[in-house]
Amino acid sequence: MKIEQCTALVTGAASGLGEATTRALVTSGARVAMLDMDGERGDRISTELGDNVIFCRADISSESDLDQAIAAIKAAFGTLHIVVNCAGLGGSVKIVGRDGIMPMEMFTSRVNVNLIGTFTVIRAAAPLMMENSPNEEGERGVIINTASIAAFDGQVGQSAYASTKGGIVSMTLPLTREFAPNGIRVMAILPGIADTPLLAKNSPEVLDRLAKQVPFPPRLAKPSEFAALACHIVENPYLNGESIRLDGGLRMGFGRK
Ligand SMILES: NC(=O)c1ccc[n+]([C@@H]2O[C@H](COP(=O)([O-])OP(=O)(O)OC[C@H]3O[C@@H](n4cnc5c(N)ncnc54)[C@H](O)[C@@H]3O)[C@@H](O)[C@H]2O)c1
Repeated sequence: MKIEQCTALVTGAASGLGEATTRALVTSGARVAMLDMDGERGDRISTELGDNVIFCRADISSESDLDQAIAAIKAAFGTLHIVVNCAGLGGSVKIVGRDGIMPMEMFTSRVNVNLIGTFTVIRAAAPLMMENSPNEEGERGVIINTASIAAFDGQVGQSAYASTKGGIVSMTLPLTREFAPNGIRVMAILPGIADTPLLAKNSPEVLDRLAKQVPFPPRLAKPSEFAALACHIVENPYLNGESIRLDGGLRMGFGRK
C-alpha cells in the first residue's frame, strides 16, 4: 500500500518504537491516530506533528477505550488502512526470587496488555479496515504486531513477557488466513534489543553488555530501524503471515552469570 494514501493507527505511539513509527508514517504522508495511555506525551507529540495526527488516550486492554478510539478515527479520518501495535509492557521477575514469590499480577498484567490488548486493538479495528475500497492489488489494509525475540529466546524471569510475545507470533498465521479474503495482511516484527525507554531502566553497564552480544552491528537497534521495517511491510504487498526478527543476528543464550 502507498503510505501517503493511508490512515494509520499506532499504539504505544507516545514512546520508543511506536513514536518512531508514527513519525516515519507522518513523514511519508500518512494520517495517523496515535494511541497511548500516556496523555501528556501523546498530546505533546501529536500537537508537534500537526493536522494529520490525532491522539487517543486509551488503554489497549479496554474494549470500551478501543471502541471510542475507533469512533474518533472514523470521525477524524473516515478510514483506517494500517494498524501498528507497539503498546506493551516489559519486565522480568523470577517465580521465586529475592523478594519472594512472583505476584500473579505480574503475569496477568503482561497477558492483559501485551497479548489481549494487541488482540483487542485488532478486533476493534478490523471492521473499519474491511470497509475500505481495495487498491489495484486488492489490498484493504495491513496489521503489524510487535512481538520480541523473547518469543523464542526468553531469558530467566521472562516467563510472563515471553509467553505474551509467543502468543503474538502464534496469532499471526490464523489472522493472516482469516483476513486474506478481505485483502488485509498481518505481520509481526520481533525486535531484539532496541534503544527505547523500555530498556532505559537498565544500567549503562548492562546495556553495554547486551549491545556486545549483538553480532553486527554491535549496538542496540535504533527505533528508526523498526519504523523503517514497518513502513517497508506496509509498502510490500507480498509480505504476509510472517514474523521477522530485527535483531542484528542476536540469539540470546542461557545467560548463566
Ligand atoms: N525496546 C526493546 O528492546 C524491545 C524489544 C523487543 C520487543 N519490544 C516491544 O516493542 C514494543 C514497544 O516497546 P518500546 O521499547 O517502544 O517501549 P516504550 O516503553 O518506550 O513504549 C511503550 C508505550 O506503550 C504504552 N503503553 C503501555 N501499556 C499500554 C496500554 N495498556 N495501553 C496503551 N498504551 C500502553 C506506554 O505508555 C508507552 O508509551 C513493546 O511491545 C515491547 O514489548 C521492545
